[in-house]
Amino acid sequence: MTAPTQTQTPAAAASAPAATVVERPLTHFRTLPLSIKVNGEIVGPAEVPAGLMMIDYLHEYLHLTGSRLGCGQGVCHACVVIVDNPDGTSEEVRTCITGANFFHGKTIRTIEGHAKRNEAGEVVELSPLQQKFLEHFSFQCGYCTPGFVNAATVLIERLKRQPVTKDEVEETITAALNDHICRCTGYVRYYEAVKEVVMTMPGLVKDAA
Ligand code: FES
Ligand code: FES
Repeated sequence: MTAPTQTQTPAAAASAPAATVVERPLTHFRTLPLSIKVNGEIVGPAEVPAGLMMIDYLHEYLHLTGSRLGCGQGVCHACVVIVDNPDGTSEEVRTCITGANFFHGKTIRTIEGHAKRNEAGEVVELSPLQQKFLEHFSFQCGYCTPGFVNAATVLIERLKRQPVTKDEVEETITAALNDHICRCTGYVRYYEAVKEVVMTMPGLVKDAA
């Protein structure tokens, strides 16, 4: 018998139909394979939910939390990682709008992979770009910084393969950093730090003094 409610008489409750039990099947995610190399280490093979974005995979599965979720819509580029292509080129990919499975079989670098570390995993030497960003006080809150480090690193690596003339340096740096949004520093100090690296690192500018 159904228990009477506060507004039901025992007789009415007795004649009420029994509550329908709704079977709720367990939620099943479609999964996709993922094997990748991250900062030099092979990860996987694993199965990941089909809709899992790469930023969430990095944060929640690998505990690599340095890549920043900014807009989450592909606009600010705070979340980019570097993909190392088989032909020796490198490129930025936004992880907030790219599924983890897209990276299956690829080699990537995250912000955690730039500095040199000792056997205990402690940072012992920053990359030249990271060092210059510090020296130029390029960032304040630092939320955008992993994206800028990755963008500038991709630029430096491209210039090693394809140096530009001194006249092309400014527009080349501007184009390389242009997609990255920083709400704090107004970009100038990032730009100046990258320019110093470009102008002083051998082989990046054809007619450098
Ligand atoms: S968080 Fe990915 S583009 Fe903004
Ligand atoms: S340093 Fe704060 S968003 Fe760039």
